[in-house]
Amino acid sequence: MSEKNNIVEIKDLKVDFQIRQGFVKEVIKREKKIVKAVDRVNLSIGKGEIVSLVGESGSGKTTTGRAILQLAPKTSGEILFDGKPIEAKSGAYMKAFRARAQMIFQDPYQSLNPRFTVTDIVAEPLLFDGTTYSEEEREARVIEALEFAGLKPGKDFLNRYPHELSGGQRQRVSIATCFVMSPDFIVADEPVSMLDASVRADILKLFVEMKTQKNTSLMFITHDLSLAWLISDRIAIMYLGKIVEIGSADLIAGKCMHPYSQALTSVVTVVGDRNKRKRIVLEGETPSPIDIPSGCRFHTRCPLVQERCRVESPELREISEGHFVACHFPERIE
Ligand SMILES: Nc1ncnc2c1ncn2[C@@H]1O[C@H](COP(=O)(O)OP(=O)(O)O)[C@@H](O)[C@H]1O
Ligand code: SF4
Ligand SMILES: [Mg+2]
Repeated sequence: MSEKNNIVEIKDLKVDFQIRQGFVKEVIKREKKIVKAVDRVNLSIGKGEIVSLVGESGSGKTTTGRAILQLAPKTSGEILFDGKPIEAKSGAYMKAFRARAQMIFQDPYQSLNPRFTVTDIVAEPLLFDGTTYSEEEREARVIEALEFAGLKPGKDFLNRYPHELSGGQRQRVSIATCFVMSPDFIVADEPVSMLDASVRADILKLFVEMKTQKNTSLMFITHDLSLAWLISDRIAIMYLGKIVEIGSADLIAGKCMHPYSQALTSVVTVVGDRNKRKRIVLEGETPSPIDIPSGCRFHTRCPLVQERCRVESPELREISEGHFVACHFPERIE
């Protein structure tokens, strides 16, 4: 059943990609290699809520965000938007959906049309919102959005082109465009990872302001837990296509229970020596998503692994209100 305060609900979402291997292997030998990029993920995002997806590169964060926005095809599962299944086959529905659900990319230079001025880019959504604006009204809306996004005075930016802006300013233009559209939901995929540390926090605060002023929900995708903690209501930790832990931002930053989350937060004790604290260094590489380990997919790198972990996959279990962990032996190790 759908929860009416959720803007997005994902149920058992799976996204597989088939890897191209050439004619001989695919057709003659009938070998198929499948990447399980997202593997039965369940997640809801409330109206006006900021939820971060955190994990190493390749854990399936981008694919999850893209699947919600219908930019990657789901293999199975259900995605509800504002309580209803997304009608991907209806052109009229998708036009309205694209206005309500937006994506902000890591590299704003690639997502901004280089031939458009800032005014053209930021005002574009106004062409489709069903209202006729005068030149003055249009300009006033654009200036308001630019100044919201920290480009002040907005007038000075109206006639610039993307190549005349810094990376931070370009990302602010993307945010100004979102501000004009007032979407209900934004997926921001590593939106500050290419920017100088000095502007990161400022840009992230704009998402919090969108939430406060417009009740916009955000899925913030990052590999950096400390950034997630800055702005999130809840944080979900992903490993090899699965959410392994989810809870409030404070809880995940300070009291997470999954060994992988604890590795990300960096301090874990050695088993059998509870007094000894050390920075956990995860052993080995992340396994390939083509060949996911049996049982708990983290068992090949887990310092707490036991026999059961190699054979039985742990489901996400609620261990305290709103705190879910997928581990047979969740414990706080400190
Ligand atoms: N279009 C695609 N075709 C094949 N494999 C893909 C495709 N997109 C992503 N993948 C694979 O899916 C896995 C998850 O990727 P991604 O969602 O980009 O992870 P993240 O954003 O966490 O780095 C990776 O192993 C990646 O190589
Ligand atoms: S289930 Fe076992 S291997 Fe997986 S995280 Fe928990 S202790 Fe480690
Ligand atoms: Mg990614």
